[in-house]
Amino acid sequence: MRSLLFIPADDEKKLSKGTQTGADVLLLDLEDAVAPSRKGDARKICADYLARTREVQGRPRLFVRINALDTPYWADDLAGIVKAQPDGIMLPKPRGGGDVHTLSVALDHAEQGAGIASGSIRIIAIATETAISLLNMPSYVGASARLEGLTWGAEDLSAAVGARTNREADGRTWTSPFMLARNLCLMTGVAAGAQPIDTVFVNFRDAEGLRAEASTAARDGFTGKMAIHPNQVAIINEVFTPTEAETAEAEEIIAAFRAQPDAGVVGIRGKMIDKAHLALAERLMSRAAAARRQG
Ligand code: COA
Ligand code: MG
Repeated sequence: MRSLLFIPADDEKKLSKGTQTGADVLLLDLEDAVAPSRKGDARKICADYLARTREVQGRPRLFVRINALDTPYWADDLAGIVKAQPDGIMLPKPRGGGDVHTLSVALDHAEQGAGIASGSIRIIAIATETAISLLNMPSYVGASARLEGLTWGAEDLSAAVGARTNREADGRTWTSPFMLARNLCLMTGVAAGAQPIDTVFVNFRDAEGLRAEASTAARDGFTGKMAIHPNQVAIINEVFTPTEAETAEAEEIIAAFRAQPDAGVVGIRGKMIDKAHLALAERLMSRAAAARRQG
């Protein structure tokens, strides 16, 4: 999952473009992009779209962002869409791993009711939209076998903490409270065995700014980034696809350890390479293979 594109779930025009955008994942949004008066209609449009789009060859994965667990909407969201078999649910504003667990148990029941394979619907949690969640980050580790991705959000956290801005005067660098959220998302995602996914870049006409932010995220270990506009997808896919030089280096490391199975450490062109590099190389090769499958 390199690029994850949000589409308001009640917007038929934007939905109709979804499969053509090149995104690895579509995030069909029932939450903030849909007004309370439209939630019911949005569930129906979303379920119809899921049922149709599941059949499309080479389609993106389809996740639905439901409403948060402290709203009156989320149970109806699940009831409205699970029978149409989304690949996963995005959970906004969790207060900790307990909310992921609660969603997972609700999905157990919903899957059973709909005759869908148990555990097949995955979860991505937006782990930094509430202050309490940031204090509960370790609780995401082991919260659910369904947890496949962890991402972070700056806009709702700004509102929650009353921050006047989340960027420094240069308009690009995150201020320190938001850097904390970002960095904890990265570490917790890795610790939970889930993909760490960087947050959205809202200035969708600023391609250069997006590229810079995505590159920094990829450098640090994030493996994908959310998008809000189709013109962000190609840049994100490019930045999060391992380059030929990276895969060649990884192959060399893997081959060196294969040639010396009893070695804990090897030298390649005057540089010490140990098991940590091997693990990194293997992860990179599996991401490269996934990127090839996704095109
Ligand atoms: N998914 C699919 N298609 C989209 C899209 C999206 N997220 N965003 C824009 N498009 C389409 C538009 O419909 C438009 O199509 P057209 O050329 O046939 O008219 C085309 O791409 C160009 O759009 P543009 O005019 O540049 O943007 P806009 O002003 O129509 O939309 C936003 C701007 C921000 C409202 C829109 O990108 C959007 O809705 N993004 C997702 C918002 C969201 O879900 N937020 C919640 C999570 S933060
Ligand atoms: Mg939000």
